Amino acid sequence: MAKINPSYLNLSKNYLFSEITARVKVHLSKNPSKRLIRLGIGDVTKPFIPAIITALQKAVAEQGTKEGFRGYGPELGYDFLREAIAKTEYDGMGIQADEIFVSDGAKCDIGNLQEIFSLDTKMCISEPSYPVYIDSNVMSYRGGPANTKGCHPELIYLPSLPENNFLPVLPSVVPDVIYLCYPNNPTGTVMTKDQLAVWVNYAKANDCVIIFDAAYESFIREPGIPHSIYEVPGAIDVAIECRSYSKTAGFTGLRCGSTVVPRSVMGTAPNGERVPFRDLWARRQTTKYNGCPYIVQRGAEAVHTPEGKAQTRVVIDEYMANANKLRQAFEDLGLFVVGGKNAPYVWVKLPDGTRSWDFFDRLLAEACIVGTPGVGFGPTGEGCFRFTGFGTVEDTEEAIERLKSFKF
Ligand code: MLT
Repeated sequence: MAKINPSYLNLSKNYLFSEITARVKVHLSKNPSKRLIRLGIGDVTKPFIPAIITALQKAVAEQGTKEGFRGYGPELGYDFLREAIAKTEYDGMGIQADEIFVSDGAKCDIGNLQEIFSLDTKMCISEPSYPVYIDSNVMSYRGGPANTKGCHPELIYLPSLPENNFLPVLPSVVPDVIYLCYPNNPTGTVMTKDQLAVWVNYAKANDCVIIFDAAYESFIREPGIPHSIYEVPGAIDVAIECRSYSKTAGFTGLRCGSTVVPRSVMGTAPNGERVPFRDLWARRQTTKYNGCPYIVQRGAEAVHTPEGKAQTRVVIDEYMANANKLRQAFEDLGLFVVGGKNAPYVWVKLPDGTRSWDFFDRLLAEACIVGTPGVGFGPTGEGCFRFTGFGTVEDTEEAIERLKSFKF
């Protein structure tokens, strides 16, 4: 008899963005004529920059030649990309190219990383959060059934509350692993180097590992905000960092990301021996993954060139201009709003008593705008709502016009 993994029964029925897609589909079938504005999932809308297109075309052409054709690539990433990342993103931080692992995106890495930790690991998640942190741990027996608030009691939740500017405070129970994401998805908030240092020092003092999701680092516009956790002294001993080309360079469809697992980040084996997580991650990836395609990695490499960086910045500036406009619009409407300054997301506190999914349904039905209900990111997000700056300029401006006449 084949038995299911019962942990899956502890998950909500659908993944957040699948639930949104399903509701939008029903809405469109009933309202085919009014134009829908999508500011829900953080999916990019602008085409690839010329530097990426040139690199992709060159790599495709190579595949049609006897000399240039490539079959299986190195599972952990081609050296040309690992070295480009080490040099341009982690220069002076002590990160070696062979501690950088290229993959098909940060989502997969974040979902898979929990596998290299013992099943009884106490996972601590700052929340509201990207749902993959919680769901992937629930799938692997670490969450238990959700309680009436939607919390999985075996995980440690760190609420990021409005009274603390949507930043979490240190846990009262010492965990083993801490998930942090800055600039934050979904709230768009950031941590200064000093604020991040508090977490790094805590992790060092308590032998914890931080899984740091830096997928939105290229959206930082203010000085003094760390782009990498390794800018904080000592982080190299306690932190794993994930990055993504999805939002930085429009790879949501092409798929590429990278994860840094420094050799100095260690865990304890049952016999007490200290083992580098880097080696376990390398073992996991070489066994279960055959590597990101060569053509895609050549496209990613172009992002790290001077032209790629300059062209990417122009695109991100446009998304950030959208995010700023959205933030301003909600402030003008008298709502409490954070984000949109160093992140593409704008997080709005809805008028008291408004529930996130109710607001989602009403906004869709009455204004034909798709956003993301805050509660989809965890119970602390109830009563909040997320909008993205990744829409087109026209859609963002049209959404703002529609919101002005919307009854909140
Ligand atoms: C989001 O909207 O939170 C992200 O686009 C989801 C993702 O990166 O998978």
